[in-house]
Amino acid sequence: MSLRRLHHSQPDSFAFTAANKKWADGQIAKFPEGRQASAIIPLLWRAQEQEGWLTKPAIETVADMLGLDYIRALEVATFYFMFQLQPVGSVAHVQVCGTLSCMICGAEDLIGVCKDIIAPNAHQLSDDGKFSWEEVECLGACTNAPMAQIGKDFYEDLTVESFTKILGDFAAGKVPTPGPQNGRYAAEPLSGLTTLKDMNSSKYDHNTSVDLALKYGDTVKRIQGNEVPILKPRKKSAKSKAS
Ligand code: FES
Repeated sequence: MSLRRLHHSQPDSFAFTAANKKWADGQIAKFPEGRQASAIIPLLWRAQEQEGWLTKPAIETVADMLGLDYIRALEVATFYFMFQLQPVGSVAHVQVCGTLSCMICGAEDLIGVCKDIIAPNAHQLSDDGKFSWEEVECLGACTNAPMAQIGKDFYEDLTVESFTKILGDFAAGKVPTPGPQNGRYAAEPLSGLTTLKDMNSSKYDHNTSVDLALKYGDTVKRIQGNEVPILKPRKKSAKSKAS
């Protein structure tokens, strides 16, 4: 386990965009009075989605919004590995799974690609500042090993060639189609279906998660808060209304 510390270089300030602030206020309103601190994870996450990484001013801003001592917010931010405590690539932060299935199927080769193309060390920015990378634990797509998460989406069934091409496409400003990169529809056997054989995936272009990724188009987008806000406060159940 690596030591997780705040980055030595920090911006002077942080502010949510107006839309993200509205969204954050909506998240806080979902919790009962006195329990607002429970909104810390979504708020820290949205700060990271907006900036790409979690800065000290962002952590402190979230703590102020929730009425928390800074140390409480710092404890959460430094505990969870999903929070990036150092600057990430302006185009994409690449997370290569290095757990068993992916390791057996070629994760080390993918990490080699990251070292060659992005930077020799994890969490180090590429020379042009566009990319960073890290090795992560199992991302739950083991049947499509080896795989990597880039931004919000999974790129699966990777080879050195396909992974190199994907990084090149991102560098060129494109967003390659996520999902299996070897022609598989989802996680079915490469040799063909053995059950549910009447499933005809050829009538669909993509599986559901790839379809959603293409629909939202936010694979590596910084989130400014234009999504549908969840503003409704927690509703009282019929039972508690009656009492
Ligand atoms: S081992 Fe890589 S996704 Fe599970």
